[in-house]
Amino acid sequence: MQQVELIKRIKELKLKRNAVILAHYYSRPEVQDIADFVGDSLGLSQEAVRQSADVIVFCGVHFMGESAAILSPDKTVLLPEIDATCPMADMVNVEGLKKEKEKHPDALVVSYVNSSAAIKAESYICCTSANAVEVVNSLDANEIIFVPDKNLAAYVAARTDKKVIPWEGHCPTHHQILREDVLKMKEKHPEARFIAHPECRPEVLELADYIASTRGMIMYAKNLPAQEFIVGTECGLIHGLLKEAPSKKFYCISEFACCPSMKMVNLEKVLASLEKMQKVVTVSEDIKVRAKQALDRMLAVKVG
Ligand code: 13P
Ligand code: SF4
Repeated sequence: MQQVELIKRIKELKLKRNAVILAHYYSRPEVQDIADFVGDSLGLSQEAVRQSADVIVFCGVHFMGESAAILSPDKTVLLPEIDATCPMADMVNVEGLKKEKEKHPDALVVSYVNSSAAIKAESYICCTSANAVEVVNSLDANEIIFVPDKNLAAYVAARTDKKVIPWEGHCPTHHQILREDVLKMKEKHPEARFIAHPECRPEVLELADYIASTRGMIMYAKNLPAQEFIVGTECGLIHGLLKEAPSKKFYCISEFACCPSMKMVNLEKVLASLEKMQKVVTVSEDIKVRAKQALDRMLAVKVG
């Protein structure tokens, strides 16, 4: 089917099903373009709650769909590609986390939203890259077990007086960005600012002019007079950057900065999911209740 026909069919079915499409900034450009809302993980969680539609088609990875289903239990949440999972989220399991909690009985668990619902259910509070420091600093505890991203944990540890106990997980896409990649790009584009995501290694973040979530990076690039930026995150963000700052130049940090899971959703799969009402994201009731508590605590933390 031609792209125009696909888009027409998606729009018709969206109306018929009273559905909205939410997409993360790392989604394919054509998927972002048909979405009703594109955002970072925090924005997408907030939007899922705000929406009054009956159906949410979530163009992102599994943990994002789960969060939407937990936060909006009255809506049907569809993942066009149920196998789009986040490898970092799979780096922590409930058994391992329970053992870590036993080792540190006074610590509170903060789970990055890039984790399963079962991990969220074992956590006191969740955080995203946009609010991790504020979330940790809001807690009435001196020790924090932070799962699953060790790079985000190090970023937070440098910005709090609390003791942060990191989990040994990482995002393969961000972790493979090396200091040398940044230095090479800076040499090639000496006028460019380097903006980076806190999932990058600490030695990469040391070189950054600005560190933020995907939405935070867009706002910074849009509002700053600077005209050129080296983008230290998944390169799907360049589509969103160009939409909001079309006259500026954005350089992808490396050709490998791509998340294969985020690219699994395409227009054909969005259409199929609306046609067949598949795949519905389900979370067991017990996990849903406990995970919602951790997500609700996060959404109550004031940022900025
Ligand atoms: P944010 O968009 O929340 O910064 O998250 C990045 C990410 O890795 C999502 O998978
Ligand atoms: Fe997971 Fe990294 Fe892909 Fe985000 S970019 S979904 S953290 S693997």
